[in-house]
Amino acid sequence: MRQQSRSLSNSNRGGAMAAAIVLLLPLLFPSLFTPFSHALPSALSEWNTPKPMHSRLLKSALQRENSDEQQADLWMPLPRQQWKTCAQHSLTSTELSEKSQGYIQVFLDGGLNQQRMGICDAVAVAKILNATLIVPYLEVNPVWQDSSTFMDIFDVDHFLDTLKDDISIVRELPDEYFWSTREYYATAIRATRVKTAPVHASANWYLENVLPLLQSYGIAAIAPFSHRLDFDNMPADIQRLRCKVNFHALVFVPHIRALGDALVSRLRYPPGPSEAAGTNYIREFTNPKYKYKYKQEAGKFVVLHLRFDKDMAAHSACDFGGGKAEKMALAKYRQVIWQGRVLNSQFTDEELRSQGRCPLTPEEIGLLLAALGFDNTTRLYLASHKVYGGEARISTLRSLFPLMEDKKTLASSEERAQIKGKASLLAAVDYYVSMHSDIFISASPGNMHNAMVGHRTYHNMKTIRPNMALLGQLFLNKSLTWPEFQEAVIQGHISRQGQLRLRKSEQSIYTYPAPDCMCKV
Ligand SMILES: *[C@@H]1O[C@H](CO)[C@@H](O)[C@H](O)[C@H]1NC(C)=O
Ligand SMILES: *[C@@H]1O[C@H](CO)[C@@H](O)[C@H](O)[C@H]1NC(C)=O
Ligand SMILES: *[C@@H]1O[C@H](CO)[C@@H](O)[C@H](O)[C@H]1NC(C)=O
Repeated sequence: MRQQSRSLSNSNRGGAMAAAIVLLLPLLFPSLFTPFSHALPSALSEWNTPKPMHSRLLKSALQRENSDEQQADLWMPLPRQQWKTCAQHSLTSTELSEKSQGYIQVFLDGGLNQQRMGICDAVAVAKILNATLIVPYLEVNPVWQDSSTFMDIFDVDHFLDTLKDDISIVRELPDEYFWSTREYYATAIRATRVKTAPVHASANWYLENVLPLLQSYGIAAIAPFSHRLDFDNMPADIQRLRCKVNFHALVFVPHIRALGDALVSRLRYPPGPSEAAGTNYIREFTNPKYKYKYKQEAGKFVVLHLRFDKDMAAHSACDFGGGKAEKMALAKYRQVIWQGRVLNSQFTDEELRSQGRCPLTPEEIGLLLAALGFDNTTRLYLASHKVYGGEARISTLRSLFPLMEDKKTLASSEERAQIKGKASLLAAVDYYVSMHSDIFISASPGNMHNAMVGHRTYHNMKTIRPNMALLGQLFLNKSLTWPEFQEAVIQGHISRQGQLRLRKSEQSIYTYPAPDCMCKV
């Protein structure tokens, strides 16, 4: 089932990254790992309602009182840095090459954030080859089943307009190449398909292997294309261009931006406490008089990206406090999906935790936020897909942060009609709200986390990166008091708030945009 659904992709990856990749596989290719979760009857109880795992800390956290001074520090924007955005300006002053070498077509799998990087790399590859890019084709993810196209998600006019001086891009296949479709490539070996692009291929690889195809056939279709362009040894103008696409050319379609703006404004200007009860909350927001009624100062909010689904829980092989039933359910899942070949299951829970290899549960991310000083008046927007353990796990987090919102609590079902059931559009709204928050934090490493770290760094916005190893060790120590825990957490996160870090070799330009895409002030 998984093989079929991935007819155009290929996850062969080699070299030194192997170990890291194994750990990240479910994040990079979630499509590989979730085929069965929907099939399970929801009534099947596979956990004894997960109880808080750190009840002593939790009890103290619920009674926490934080100083105003601490609050002020927490919400203070990052100081100005020595770097500013500059990817909007292309490095080359040369005219766009008149003669196109042919057409480049790419088919992108993965979730929204992985596809986003693929789009940026596709523009770069077309530029390297002086080819014309066909607006990238987004594969339907077998799990999320969202058939939204590029144009359903991104503002294609803005995309073309922003890049018009850099590269030639067309919306559709020209008539003479009408045959060059996904179906055509999925059904047989074809001369115009490039199937063997290595992970992190060089610019020369494309010149040597793809240019001849363009010269012979006028078109080349590259699939798989995820992670197929090197981050190192690239011409400076190509690096700039990749960032220009990511940070300037890719904006969401107007209806996503409008819904995102509505959510952001409701987070910043909540109705008073008397109106906030039950369904009136939404009615109040959608009341046209609303905006005249509440003219208070803009409030601040945190976006918490919480990915804690069954794949991730099972693959990590950690213990999440759901008792024997949960342990067995996760072990069974590992057996079915990976035939038990999960590296982490060789280690004990204690070993995994002390190495920071266990995703944070909603309870743990709540304790982290509380220790950092966020009090119970903090507005938290939950950017989340689905939480394994459901409301039982979320409720612990909500007890610490009663003002927790998400798309459903902030917008009416009419307002959400256009994005309903569409995973990429839902993710796009979360991306938009995340980019407009005062602070962003993610409970697990992965594509969304990396995308936000990069995009927010580019605009010098605060992003807290949980110190997983430290937290793992702290949570293991059952004799730690709340003040000790809090002190250790604060110390361990001083330099993890979004301060700019320069890209090192092999790191992604989309996660570390400086120095390639930023300029010294
Ligand atoms: C918030 O915390 C304070 C101090 O611990 C407490 O007095 C108050 O009742 C809490 N408010 C809510 C809504 O939980
Ligand atoms: C692309 O165009 C540039 C500028 O016109 C030229 O220097 C370069 O050799 C061209 N490359 C290819 C592969 O056509
Ligand atoms: C747990 O924390 C306490 C208090 O900081 C410390 O004295 C103790 O050594 C820690 N135990 C372990 C096993 O790290």
